[in-house]
Amino acid sequence: MIIPEQLLEKYNSPVPRYTSYPPANYFDTVTENQYIDAVKESNSGNPRNISLYLHIPFCKKLCYYCGCNTSPLGTQAEMKKYVVALKQEIRMVAALIDKGRKVSQIHYGGGTPNALPVEWIAELNELIYSLFTLVDHPEIAIECNPAHLDFNYIDQLKKSGFNRFSLGIQDFDNEVLKTVNRDPSAMPVGDIIQRLKAGSDNVTVNLDFIYGLPGQTVESFLDSIRQAAAIRPDRLVTFSYAHVPWVKKAQKILDKKGLPDTELKMKMFSESHEYLMANGYQSIGLDHYVLESDELYQAVITKSLHRNFQGYCTRQTTGQVYAFGVSAISQLEKGYAQNTKSVKGYIESIGQGHLPIEKGYMLTKNEIIVREVINQLMCNKQINWKELSDHLNISESVIRDAIVYDDAELKQFEEDGILQLTKEGLEMTEGGALFIRNVAASFDPLTRNNSKQFSKPV
Ligand SMILES: C[S@@+](CC[C@H](N)C(=O)[O-])C[C@H]1O[C@@H](n2cnc3c(N)ncnc32)[C@H](O)[C@@H]1O
Ligand code: SF4
Repeated sequence: MIIPEQLLEKYNSPVPRYTSYPPANYFDTVTENQYIDAVKESNSGNPRNISLYLHIPFCKKLCYYCGCNTSPLGTQAEMKKYVVALKQEIRMVAALIDKGRKVSQIHYGGGTPNALPVEWIAELNELIYSLFTLVDHPEIAIECNPAHLDFNYIDQLKKSGFNRFSLGIQDFDNEVLKTVNRDPSAMPVGDIIQRLKAGSDNVTVNLDFIYGLPGQTVESFLDSIRQAAAIRPDRLVTFSYAHVPWVKKAQKILDKKGLPDTELKMKMFSESHEYLMANGYQSIGLDHYVLESDELYQAVITKSLHRNFQGYCTRQTTGQVYAFGVSAISQLEKGYAQNTKSVKGYIESIGQGHLPIEKGYMLTKNEIIVREVINQLMCNKQINWKELSDHLNISESVIRDAIVYDDAELKQFEEDGILQLTKEGLEMTEGGALFIRNVAASFDPLTRNNSKQFSKPV
C-alpha cells in the first residue's frame, strides 16, 4: 500500500479518533441524577445486553508515551480502599439495572489491571457474578502489562473466568522500551500466549503495538511485527502513537528524544500492514488485525462489527456499557457519563454514597443518528444508506439531514482515491482506509467549524 505524499499533506490534519461519538473532549456537565435517570431509562433501550467496564488506574511505572488515565502505584492499603469503593459503586449501579438483562461483556482496563493482586480481581468477578446474570458465553477481558505477569497469575485469571487477554507489547526492541521508560515482558511472549491458551479453546489473545516512538525505524518496527506474527496471537493492533503533550505532559520528554516524522510513521504502518496481510491476518477497522478464524472477522464479512471504548466487538456481544472506577466512561444508548479522574475524590464520593460523575454528554435525536453513521463507517469501512435506514427505522433523507452530507466533498474524496461512491453508498479503498477518520469527520456537524485539538491520523 503506497500513500502518495500529496494525500498525506492534504489529509494528515488533526481529526477525532471516533472511539465514541461525540468524542470525549465534547463532554460537558452531566450530574449524578442525570446519570441515574439515564441508567434507569437504559433498561428499556438498545442493546438489551449489559457490558461492564472496570478501570484499574494503577501502574508500577509511567510509560512516557501513555495517553491512558493512570495513577502511580499506591501502597496496598491505598489500593485496597480503591477496590472497596469500586465494589460499592458496582452494587449501587447494579441496583438500578433491570434483573432480566444479561451481561455479555466484562472488561478490565487501565492503567494496569494486573498491578493488583490477582485475588482482588477474582473477588471483583465474584461480586459481578453474584449481582448479575450472564449470557451463555460472555467475553471476560483484561488488559495486562506482560512485565508483571507470571504463570500463577495467568492460571488464577483463567480460573476466575477470563477468556480475552490483551497484552501491551508496544515494541520488542528493548532499547525503544528503555527510551519510553517501559520494562520488557517478564517471560517470552510466546510462552505467555501458550499458557493463556492451555486447556481451553475459547481463549483469545491480543497484542498491542505502537508505531511512531523515538528510536523506532521502519525496519525495527517491522521486525517487531514479524516476531509477533510468528507467535500467532489471535489479534494484534498497531496503534499510531497519539502525541497530545498539551494533555499528557510526560509526552514532552519524547519530543526531546526525537519522534519519527510522518513519512516514516506512514511507512511503519504500511509495511507492517502488508506483512500482516501476507501472513494470514485480516484487517479490522483501521489498525486491528485478526486471524481469519476470529469472530471479529466473521462480523466484518456480515457487516455486523461494532465498537465501544473498549475496542471492537460483534453486534451479538455489544451491550450498553456501565463503567466503574476513576475516569471510567459509561456508554448508554442516550448518552455518556464519565467519573472523576481523581482516585481520592472517587473514594470520598463513593464513601458518601454518591456516584462520582464529573462530566458526560446526552445525545440529541440527530446526534444518535450521526453516531450510527460514523460507527458504521469506522467499523465496516463502508456505508449502505438503505441498510442504515432499515436498521434505524427512519428514512434515508432523515439520515442525510442529521449529518453533514456534502456531495462535492465526497466526490473529492473519491477523486483522491480515498473512497468509492457506490449505488448503495460508499466504500473506503484499501489505501484510503488510513484517512477514514477524515471521512467520518466530514459527516460530523460537531467537528466541522470547531477549535478543539485532536491527534493526526498518521
Ligand atoms: C491501558 S493500556 C495497556 C495496558 C497495560 N497498561 C500495558 O501497558 O501493557 C492500552 C494500550 O493503549 C496504547 N496506548 C497508550 N498510549 C498511547 C498513545 N499515546 N498512542 C497510541 N497508543 C497508546 C498502548 O498500546 C497500550 O497497550
Ligand atoms: S502504557 Fe500501560 S503501563 Fe504504561 S503507563 Fe500506560 S497504562 Fe501504564
